[in-house]
Amino acid sequence: MRRLLSSIAVLVCCGLASTFGSTAAAAATTSDAPLVTYTAVNGAIPQSLTGVPGDPAKGKAVVLDRKLGNCLACHHMPLAAPFQGNLGPDLAGVGSRLSAGQLRLRIADPKLINPATIMPGYYQVAGLHDVAKKFVGKPILTAQEVEDVVAYLLSLK
Ligand code: HEC
Repeated sequence: MRRLLSSIAVLVCCGLASTFGSTAAAAATTSDAPLVTYTAVNGAIPQSLTGVPGDPAKGKAVVLDRKLGNCLACHHMPLAAPFQGNLGPDLAGVGSRLSAGQLRLRIADPKLINPATIMPGYYQVAGLHDVAKKFVGKPILTAQEVEDVVAYLLSLK
């Protein structure tokens, strides 16, 4: 019995270690990526941040990831996932309501549209206050992840 318990402890401990390991790796990818600057025009960022078309499947994974997008904390989406919030509008059909450029701006820096919004800027690189030193100049998502999320939202017709 004792041996069984200690092997369970080893399993739990290693599981945690690998979780932390992958988090660190993801963070490194984000911080290593060079920052992209963008221009907002008429409520939109018309130009792709990377020039590489977004991948809707990857965007869906970012949206669902509670440590990355965590969009479901505030939005209902047409996804079979538990605990969907309602602080923001339901995103069903958002791909018919908003263009790629409008979506890009709402994800990158929604405060440029509504300075009082509670939605975080996922690629907001200016105008932040009290940012911990290690996060300065490091957006929540990479530029390509923003493009992936845009591609996924565009598929919600
Ligand atoms: C802390 C809550 C919160 C989180 C997290 C959040 N949002 Fe929002 N979002 C809002 C609110 C509130 C609005 C309404 C607009 C406003 O506040 O100005 C909004 C608006 C939007 C809109 C515009 C919708 C429309 O119909 O006009 C889109 C698109 C959007 N969010 C996408 C996302 C995506 C994608 C994520 C995750 C990457 C996300 N949001 C994460 C709160 C949130």
